[in-house]
Amino acid sequence: MNRLADKICIITGGAGSIGFATARLFVDEGARVVIVDRDEAALATAAAALDGDRVLAVAADVTRAADTEHYVAATLARFGGLDVLFSNAGNDGPILPVTDYPEAMFDSIMAVHVRGSYLACKYAVPHMANGGSIIITSSVVGVMGVPANCAYVAAKHAQIGLARGIAKEVAGRGIRVNTINPGPVDNDFMRAAEIQMTAATGSDAAAKFNQMIPLGRHVDPVEVARGALFLASPDSSFTTGSTLMIDGGMSA
Ligand SMILES: NC(=O)c1ccc[n+]([C@@H]2O[C@H](COP(=O)([O-])OP(=O)(O)OC[C@H]3O[C@@H](n4cnc5c(N)ncnc54)[C@H](O)[C@@H]3O)[C@@H](O)[C@H]2O)c1
Repeated sequence: MNRLADKICIITGGAGSIGFATARLFVDEGARVVIVDRDEAALATAAAALDGDRVLAVAADVTRAADTEHYVAATLARFGGLDVLFSNAGNDGPILPVTDYPEAMFDSIMAVHVRGSYLACKYAVPHMANGGSIIITSSVVGVMGVPANCAYVAAKHAQIGLARGIAKEVAGRGIRVNTINPGPVDNDFMRAAEIQMTAATGSDAAAKFNQMIPLGRHVDPVEVARGALFLASPDSSFTTGSTLMIDGGMSA
């Protein structure tokens, strides 16, 4: 298939599980892809696994304005334009009640998810082609609460607000802005959280989550990438300001 033929796409968190699965799918669909990540070793491994001619890897911290300007400029220099921005980088914090939740960790979670997505839009939008697509990875906890994860839940809700507001700013140029909202993913990011939850509650967190998901399992990163492809491609040409739940019915 060639649903992203010659589209130029930035993927932040591109060395991670969802970001890499999406980069691979986008390249397979004809895109040229810039993967952005602060983990330089993982970034090199990810780039080596993708078609070199169609991929650029840029090391950057998405919380920094200068780094954001840099990855946008590097995209324009290498590929000459920008059609799709996938703001997907994310970090996770401790599983703790709000009374024990460390202030520095709260600020870090908000910085990566909310400030990172804001900076990405701020510096990418002026260079995006009319008709482009912005996708922000929120979460099932962008539309519902869970205990002991206040910063992450707040950040994932805030990303939906960011997307909705910016969607109305850029609609005149035909640029669409949406979030994808995965449920628990079958990857290390979720496993790390589940190990902490299991220690805190003495119960098997992964199994407990599966019981809360009507489809009965964690989502595969490739299934999340397919959602990002839908929102990046003209298949979603009249969809903006929306949230695409990829959560097996968990939030229903
Ligand atoms: N794993 C899940 O269960 C799950 C569920 C819903 C939403 N999400 C969201 O999906 C997105 C991708 O997460 P993932 O599951 O692929 O985890 P992951 O840890 O595999 O990928 C996240 C990537 O973001 C990068 N990153 C973190 N902070 C950064 C920064 N400041 N600058 C640049 N890069 C940075 C990491 O190095 C990593 O490569 C995140 O926004 C996460 O919150 C994950």
